[in-house]
Amino acid sequence: MQKSPIQGLNGSNPFYPVPSLSSPRPMAALCPFSSPSLPQSLSKLLSQSKAQPLLLNLPIRNPNPNFTGITSKFHNLASSVSSSSTTPSTSASAGTESPSLGNITRPDFPILHQTVNGSNLVYLDNAATSQKPFSVLKALNESYNLDGVENLSAGTTNAYELAREKVAAFINAGEPTEVVFTRNATEAINLVAYSWGLSNLMSGDEIILTVAEHHSNIVPWQLIAQKTGATLKYVGLTEEEVPDIEQLKKLLSSKTKVVAVQHVSNVLGSVLPIDEIVAWSHDIGAKVLVDACQSVPHMAVDVQKLDADFLVASSHKMCGPTGVGFLYGKRKVLSEMALLDGANMISDVDNSTAVEPSSRFESGTSAIAQAIGLGAAIDYLSRIGMQRIQDYEEELGNYLYHSLLSIPNVRIYGPSPSKTVHRGALCSFNVENIHPTDIATLLDEQHGVAIRSGHHCAQPLHRYLGINASARASLYIYNTKEEVDIFIEALKDAISFFSSYM
Ligand SMILES: Cc1ncc(COP(=O)(O)O)c(C=O)c1O
Repeated sequence: MQKSPIQGLNGSNPFYPVPSLSSPRPMAALCPFSSPSLPQSLSKLLSQSKAQPLLLNLPIRNPNPNFTGITSKFHNLASSVSSSSTTPSTSASAGTESPSLGNITRPDFPILHQTVNGSNLVYLDNAATSQKPFSVLKALNESYNLDGVENLSAGTTNAYELAREKVAAFINAGEPTEVVFTRNATEAINLVAYSWGLSNLMSGDEIILTVAEHHSNIVPWQLIAQKTGATLKYVGLTEEEVPDIEQLKKLLSSKTKVVAVQHVSNVLGSVLPIDEIVAWSHDIGAKVLVDACQSVPHMAVDVQKLDADFLVASSHKMCGPTGVGFLYGKRKVLSEMALLDGANMISDVDNSTAVEPSSRFESGTSAIAQAIGLGAAIDYLSRIGMQRIQDYEEELGNYLYHSLLSIPNVRIYGPSPSKTVHRGALCSFNVENIHPTDIATLLDEQHGVAIRSGHHCAQPLHRYLGINASARASLYIYNTKEEVDIFIEALKDAISFFSSYM
């Protein structure tokens, strides 16, 4: 694996040795959600006498006297939801060319229409979380304002179960009972690891992951491996920086009990052929869990076609609210899984007889409003059409990739897109000699462009690539080519600013 000659701005070398991936160190905690690392090198730079005046002299774009920060932003959101439509907006932008999907959908997302530090917000952190359209905000609002008090309880239960039906239809599950609501994808993977894993894994068994997994698909398996004596095996990357499925195939054996892989990498943008991985794994009797956090929001995912045993995703990455995600599991597998906790999902309290899936795993009062919001998000995405979303994102993602590639000294991670190689609409990258957090901070403060920096909860992958952090720009349906252009110009501006100190 080639290492790029990137140095930290503060003089530190961001490379450190690749650890033995066959015995990874346990990670105590999963990634906190909004935790870009502190801009240490930027602060250091700004504290130097030479740096401060330069940054202050950078042009500040149209400071907006009406921008009063977060409080007023949420006030505006709350007051606008009731008047909004539930259908994706069809309003076109001015001009003769037909409007892009980004131009068509952006009026539906109130949060996008604000200025940040005097610049129009350009939100390119969609792999972390997506924004929510009016229709989802409206559904959330209405879920707490159901009409007809006498029907309140029944109405809420029906709406919650309707949301389950919507998720099932969206991923083409055989039946709604194959969908279990969880708090997020991380909890869904933990549910499988603890409920299925604890009863099915033992010493000598093997769990196969790739080095490109999100910590959410590593830590639960590490903990279960420690408890059961099973071993973790990691698949590396090919020269093209895609998880090496030929290596995965070779690792499969009678010892393999579960293969847990991402569908689309949140760092590399690579897309794995899940159907092939499932076929090979099933041939040797192993179960497959698919982390579909970065695919379900962006493309049509058909669980029956993929034939995976488990698949997980999170609502907040697909226009829905935070606080809810889901586990899809084949009915037979789910019904054999052990009861973990809770009280209201048993049919007989005297002997704790478990009810059938999926409610047996949903203990206590569920995230009802959030599930209803997720249902509204699915309605929104379905009205646009997942194929249309995928096509648009592919075009926009390629535009982002090639625009970034045209900047000298930029190293993009993951495969080059081509007719046969598809990437998710995101680019993780580094710029030679500049720390990614410095770039992200300057883009945010000077240009209103929100990207992410850090290890994106994929530390083993970053170590494998020989870096400890990267910057990431990630797109969604409401982004446009114009926004990609603004990001590219802002990045060039940041590079020339930091280069003046080298
Ligand atoms: C590929 C992947 N898996 C899992 C997760 C975890 O999702 P959540 O935090 O919603 O559980 C993420 C979130 O960034 C992700 O990108």
